[in-house]
Amino acid sequence: MSQGRVLLAVSGGIAAYKIPDLIRALKRAGHSVRCALTPAAGRFVTPLTLQTLSGEAVRSELFDPAEEGQIDHVALADWADVVVVAPATAHLLARMAHGLADELVTTLLLATRAPVLVAPAMNVNMWENPATRENCERLRARGVWFVGPESGLLACGWEGEGRMAEPAAIADAVERVLAPPSLRGETLLVTAGGTREPLDAVRALTNRSSGKMGFAVAREAARRGAEVVLVAGPSALETPPGVERVDVETALEMREAVFRALPRAGVVVMTAAVADFRPAQREQHKIKKEDLAEDAGLTLELVRNPDILAEVCRTPGTRTVVGFAAESRDVIEAARRKLRRKGCDLLVANDVSRTDAGFDTDTNAVSFVWPGGDVEELPLLSKAQVAAHLLDRVEKLREERA
Ligand SMILES: Cc1cc2nc3c(=O)[nH]c(=O)nc-3n(C[C@H](O)[C@H](O)[C@H](O)COP(=O)(O)O)c2cc1C
Repeated sequence: MSQGRVLLAVSGGIAAYKIPDLIRALKRAGHSVRCALTPAAGRFVTPLTLQTLSGEAVRSELFDPAEEGQIDHVALADWADVVVVAPATAHLLARMAHGLADELVTTLLLATRAPVLVAPAMNVNMWENPATRENCERLRARGVWFVGPESGLLACGWEGEGRMAEPAAIADAVERVLAPPSLRGETLLVTAGGTREPLDAVRALTNRSSGKMGFAVAREAARRGAEVVLVAGPSALETPPGVERVDVETALEMREAVFRALPRAGVVVMTAAVADFRPAQREQHKIKKEDLAEDAGLTLELVRNPDILAEVCRTPGTRTVVGFAAESRDVIEAARRKLRRKGCDLLVANDVSRTDAGFDTDTNAVSFVWPGGDVEELPLLSKAQVAAHLLDRVEKLREERA
């Protein structure tokens, strides 16, 4: 267990009443905890409570000469190994996303070089508001860690996503943030997203894969110190920090990019939804209905694309290969068959018929299917958490083989 210095930044949400429990969980784990409050936070939890539990002076004012004299705000930002923002209000997430430094907490967040973990908590409509969504995307793209929010009955009476993660879950997430760079020295090749197979000058065949799962794996691998090459189908997602991204469009381009990076990869994680077929012919100009007989349909001829995962598995070497299977029925059986056919070291099966998992969601419910036949079913988790579980398994496999 890593013993770190946790700067706990508290903002003005009702979930602040759980912060004393979080301090106790962090202290039990051996961490030192110092608290900083936004002006609104003091309306929900008293500095005296936080000071008593943390055993450290609490800061709540940027311009108070006594507080600033005791420990100045830049020294406090430098002191932290990790900054935990809990609860993180919609207002604070917005200020963070825009880099404001209008009071103590936002100033500390801008001044620190430590990783930042946020635990959002708010009414479901605030959480789902496009402004909050955009702010969170921006923060994620900058490498800010998220834990929660969870779904359930909210303090405001509404039901839905917005409840702060439980203190124990936040304390667990702190352990993950503080974990040593366990993949340092390793190179990971990750594929993500769907491919786009052009039909004519304007149309293409594609699928609904967003690339979020692969981007989450790439982000987590980079955080663990790996060199990461991310071969991505068309996607508007931002490149995770420290990741080398290769943008491709078609399955053939993806194959080429994968085989270019393969010689240096010790681990290959193939989350991309590669089109099995492509149009046999790509028309140079737009196919126009006026050029066809009236009421005539259009028959497309498709040809098979290469099976990149199977080819990678057949390529000699000591690399570890993880495949993904998007299935909509008999998920585990279909995944077992795919694992046997391709010969990878681990297959991650996801049920894309669920609305809360699979394509274009932030969450995923997956099962790890192992060559021996064992199946490990994970609960519904964020894609970041699925990525962390997946890389834990990959690290274990690598250790066993070393
Ligand atoms: C009773 C009460 C409960 C609130 N709970 C939340 C909450 O859970 N999440 C949130 O984002 N804002 C909540 N707010 C609104 C924030 O307190 C308000 O946006 C404030 O400006 C946040 O300031 P801060 O981000 O600097 O702490 C609540 C307000 C009140 C009056």
